[in-house]
Amino acid sequence: MLKEIKAAEMDCEKFIAEQVREIRAAVGDGTAINALSGGVDSSTVTMLGHRALGRRLRTVFVENGLMRRNEARRVRDLFGALGVEVEVVDARDDFFSALTGVTDPEQKREAITQTFYKKVFGRIVRESGARHLLQGTILTDVDETVAGIKRQHNVFAQLGIDPQAAFGYAILEPLVQLRKDGVRKLGRALGLSEELFARIPFPGPALAARVIGEATPERVETVRAATEVVEEALAGTPAFQYLAILHEDRVTGMRDNQRQFGQQVEVRCWDSVDARTATPTRLSFDVLERIAAGILKRVPGVVSVTYNIAPKPPSTIEAV
Ligand code: XMP
Repeated sequence: MLKEIKAAEMDCEKFIAEQVREIRAAVGDGTAINALSGGVDSSTVTMLGHRALGRRLRTVFVENGLMRRNEARRVRDLFGALGVEVEVVDARDDFFSALTGVTDPEQKREAITQTFYKKVFGRIVRESGARHLLQGTILTDVDETVAGIKRQHNVFAQLGIDPQAAFGYAILEPLVQLRKDGVRKLGRALGLSEELFARIPFPGPALAARVIGEATPERVETVRAATEVVEEALAGTPAFQYLAILHEDRVTGMRDNQRQFGQQVEVRCWDSVDARTATPTRLSFDVLERIAAGILKRVPGVVSVTYNIAPKPPSTIEAV
């Protein structure tokens, strides 16, 4: 059983010193790799890892083709400003070939997990000679996975999977006793900018979690464009999270006096404290109309926009 360290009780400087010591002890005089997605958890673990290992930690952003627009550049700039060099690895082909023909939600998640850890990181680790992957798994990821609610992509040991045997490297998880509030406190102590904490949550399987059915490059691009509209419209609002989902079913619409059997986008916006339960935000109809107009104008092929009004549970925040 992992022992939780509560945010209110955590002494950040002491925690950092302890984790730095442990990371150094594990890595010895070797090198480690760290996967940075730009989220709060992986950003915090990046700063912690650099505190411990300096340039012996290589920080990699995997361009999986499933991220939001301009994400690689944003992450590289943000960390460049903090003195951390981020290497962008283009793995789009690996992910899209693993996702070809996959429609089942859990299989989709599994395909992404395997591609990420086995194929892409397996290759990076082999080429670099590193023995360790440093990642920002937190206690909530472990809890939800063990409870069978949702298999988080970054949980292995607690499921009886040995990363060394399965992927050929060890995984270090210095944040695994913390919850989100603890990670935020730690990230601030490590010098991360407020811009990073202001961002809404984003799932590990990225936009593939928002495409119902097959996640092809074209369908992911559709949901990426719709996401951009939703994020622009709702940025700065107090909602917990907002997103767009691409449905699999088509519906009849019309464009330029022509019948178009087009695509459907569902918009979701959530009020929540910890993502365990959530209710749809009571957005004004004006805001909803603005979002719909933006999507219909900027996202090709879409003829229908709906707003989700079902709470979690029984819904979940993401669609896959
Ligand atoms: P659900 O869809 O389970 O989402 O209601 C709860 C919260 O978790 C995020 N989410 C994930 N985060 N890996 C992550 O790191 C994942 O596989 C994953 N799936 C969902 C989701 O965005 C929401 O904030």
